[in-house]
Amino acid sequence: MEYSAEKLHEEKVFKDPVHRYVHVRDRAIWDLIGTKEFQRLRRIKQLGTTYLTFHGAEHSRFNHSLGVYEIVRRIVDNVFAGRPEWHEEERLLSLCAALLHDLGHGPFSHSFEKVFDLDHESFTRMIILGDTEVNAVLTRVAEDFPKKVAEVIAKTYSDKLVVSLISSQIDADRMDYLQRDAFFTGVSYGHFDMERILRVMRPTDDQVVFKHSGMHAVEDYIMSRYQMYWQVYFHPVTRSSEVILTKILHRAKYLYEQNYSFKHKPHHFYSLFEENVTVEDYLKLDEAVFLYYFQIWQEEEDSILKDLSCRFLNRNLFKYVEFDPAKEYKKLARLSVLFEKAGIDPEYYLVVDSSSDLPYDFYRPGEEEERLPIHLLSKNGELRELSRESDIVDAISGKRRTDHKLYFPADFIEKGRGDSAITEIAALLEL
Ligand code: NI
Repeated sequence: MEYSAEKLHEEKVFKDPVHRYVHVRDRAIWDLIGTKEFQRLRRIKQLGTTYLTFHGAEHSRFNHSLGVYEIVRRIVDNVFAGRPEWHEEERLLSLCAALLHDLGHGPFSHSFEKVFDLDHESFTRMIILGDTEVNAVLTRVAEDFPKKVAEVIAKTYSDKLVVSLISSQIDADRMDYLQRDAFFTGVSYGHFDMERILRVMRPTDDQVVFKHSGMHAVEDYIMSRYQMYWQVYFHPVTRSSEVILTKILHRAKYLYEQNYSFKHKPHHFYSLFEENVTVEDYLKLDEAVFLYYFQIWQEEEDSILKDLSCRFLNRNLFKYVEFDPAKEYKKLARLSVLFEKAGIDPEYYLVVDSSSDLPYDFYRPGEEEERLPIHLLSKNGELRELSRESDIVDAISGKRRTDHKLYFPADFIEKGRGDSAITEIAALLEL
C-alpha cells in the first residue's frame, strides 16, 4: 500500500485535557510525532515566561501542535468530507501542516527571536526541507510533499482553502491555543463553543466560511480572543519577565563580543552570538538548555548577567509604571542620566516595553495582511464580513490599543534611598 494511504492497525489516542482525545489513524502522522524534531516541542513552552504570572501555564508546544492537528482532523473528516468544494487529496497535507506549523519555535521564542533577529517561520521551513527526520517521513509520502507542507505553513500554497484551515482569523491554530491557554492559566475567559463553530464551517474554493446561523458562536470566539489578549497575553507581569529574559540574552551576547571569559563556556549560544545558526545548532536549543545557563550565570563575575539571571530564576521581577513615550520622553532621558549616576546601567534596568510588539491581536478585518477576515454565509449564498453583521465584533475590531510601560528594578531604588540621584528617581517614578 502507498505510504500516504497507510493506516495504523489500531487507532492511537492521546488523552488531551482540552479536546479529550487526539485520534491518530494515519501512519505518516504517527511517524511524524515520533521524530526527534517534533519531540523537541515538548521542551518548549507554549506561553514562554507566562508561567511566572499564571503558574499553571506550563503546557508545551507539543500539546498545542497535537491539538491543532486534532481540530483540523475533525474538520476534514467530520465536516468537509464528501463536500464537492473539498479535495480529499489535500487531507493528509492539511493534517501534516497542522501538526508541524510550530515546528521551528525556539526556546522562549518571543524574546529569543527579538534578541537574535531570527524568525521561527523560517526555521519551520528549514526543518521541513532540511536533512531531518521530519523531512524523511514527508518525503516517503511523495518527493514534493515536504515542499507542499512548507508552502501551506508559509501561506503560499495554491489551494487557499487548505491555507485558511491553518492560518486565517479563525483557524485551527487559534482555536486550539485560546482554549488551551485558558485551560492551563485557569482564567475564565477564552472558552467558546468550538463544536458549534466546527458544525457551521463550510468549505469554499478559497476559504473556510461560516453559516450565518453560527454567528453568535463566532462572536463568542472573537470575544474570547479579546479577553485573552488583555488578561493573559499582554499581562504586565509576563512582560516584565520577558524584559528580563531579553536583557539576559543581550548581556550574554555583549559579553561574548567583548571576549569576556565565562566561567563555563556557553557553547550552545556561540552560533547565535555569531549570527550563523544552522538548523542543526537550532535543534539543540530548548528551554532546558536556556535555564541551565541561567542557573550557571547566577555565579558569573559579571554583576549584570549574574543579577538578571538570579532575578529570572527566582522571579524577582521588575516593577512598572504606565508610560507615554510621546509625552514623557524628557522624563525618560532624565531618568536615564540619574540611573547612570546611581550606578544602575539604564541599558539593562530601565526598559520601555510596548504591547504592540507582541504577536497577538483580536480582530482587525482587512488590516492584518495575509490573514483573511471572517466571512458569514447567508441563506442566499452571499458572503458578508463578520464585523458588518455583528455589532459586538464591530465594537471591538480595528481598534489598536497600544500600551507602553516603563520597567525598572524597584528593589535597587529601595536599597539606594538616601542617595540624591535615587531620591530624584523615586520622585519621578512616584515611588
Ligand atoms: Ni500555533
